[in-house]
Amino acid sequence: MLVAGCASFSVTAADVEVLHWWTSGGEVKSVELLKKQMAAKGYHWKDFAIAGGGGESAMTVLKTRAVSGNPPSAAQIKGHEIQEWGRLGFLTDLDNVADDEHWSVILPPVVRQLMQYNGNYVAVPVNIHRVNWLWVNPQVMKRAGVDVPQTLDEFFAAADKIKQAGFIPLAHGGQPWQNVTLFEAVALAVLGPQDYRRAFVGLDMDVLSGPKMVDVFTQFRRFRDYVDPNYRGRTWNEATALVSQGRAAMQIMGDWAKGEFAADGKVAGIDYLCVAAPGTRDLFTYNIDSFAFFKQAKPEGRAAQEDLARAILNPDFQAEFNQHKGSIPVRMDMDMGRFDQCAQASMAAFKQSLTHGGLVPSVSQGLATTSYVQAAVLDIVSDYFNDTPVDPHLAADRLARAVKAAM
Ligand code: GAL
Repeated sequence: MLVAGCASFSVTAADVEVLHWWTSGGEVKSVELLKKQMAAKGYHWKDFAIAGGGGESAMTVLKTRAVSGNPPSAAQIKGHEIQEWGRLGFLTDLDNVADDEHWSVILPPVVRQLMQYNGNYVAVPVNIHRVNWLWVNPQVMKRAGVDVPQTLDEFFAAADKIKQAGFIPLAHGGQPWQNVTLFEAVALAVLGPQDYRRAFVGLDMDVLSGPKMVDVFTQFRRFRDYVDPNYRGRTWNEATALVSQGRAAMQIMGDWAKGEFAADGKVAGIDYLCVAAPGTRDLFTYNIDSFAFFKQAKPEGRAAQEDLARAILNPDFQAEFNQHKGSIPVRMDMDMGRFDQCAQASMAAFKQSLTHGGLVPSVSQGLATTSYVQAAVLDIVSDYFNDTPVDPHLAADRLARAVKAAM
């Protein structure tokens, strides 16, 4: 039995084992493309998929595998967690591939910096997701007699009418990371990019517990009136399906939602609309998917990692993969002509925000701060949204205190 147990984990020379949480309809289609690329290079893809948007369950499983000395070839690890794994000594660098493939030229600085630990490339970026999107079903809006909202006030006014018309105004799932996805969109609208960064990157206590944060909590809680009673355990893609099927009018979610509309055969600009989350026009909350590489005992393992990294940044792969995934390419030298209007708008907003200061990292996706502080934010924000209402002053105060304790 022991032998059988070991055998089931063993990785042969031509295997590449990759941990990820891309298990929804659109995500599966995207990951299939990567498998195909690796198969074309002669590798056997060992899928290590752990369901759960945001990756919390995947990270738990990965930790168990890594500490037992049996890490996969690569794992979907993002943002600050790359640094955390690097510090623990698990990651190997891919500087030779990065040099050969000119990563320092093709990748924007914000991405390059995230992929490096101690000045070495330990992860390869896959895409850039914009998180602050509002997904809209135009037919539902029409039947409710409302326009697409641009501001928070317009959102609440439209949501009242949508509710009266018998639809769910906001499709939402009450999981902590989804609650924080909504919260960070409201925070960006209320605080603006500068104070958003002061709060969630700089962890500035004055902003975290200040009057503007009290307003963030106040506005955020108002959204509770516009989600349906069954929202709590819902996954993000089930929420997207409500919009796609015309039961709900809108969803605030990253552009991986687009992959679900596409998998449903829906067309951007006709069946669904994408606009910036209320009050965040021209601003860009980023989430960058990446794969980090674990130290391997055998040289074949290393070769597989190098091939995987090259495959991911290949321009054709970047074009095809990102059209399925809903994201934009992480290479800045790509022709966006083949992409739909949401991706084109996303690329334009990304480039604009790079030069105008409107680019902010996503808290819910682990791009803004350490996993410890992120966990504290997830707890406070999610309890506040899901439980009986508490005074928003108290919520801001709790947030600041929980963040301080996790720093
Ligand atoms: C995010 C990930 C995205 C998307 C989403 C939902 O954490 O970065 O690529 O797939 O989860 O699963």
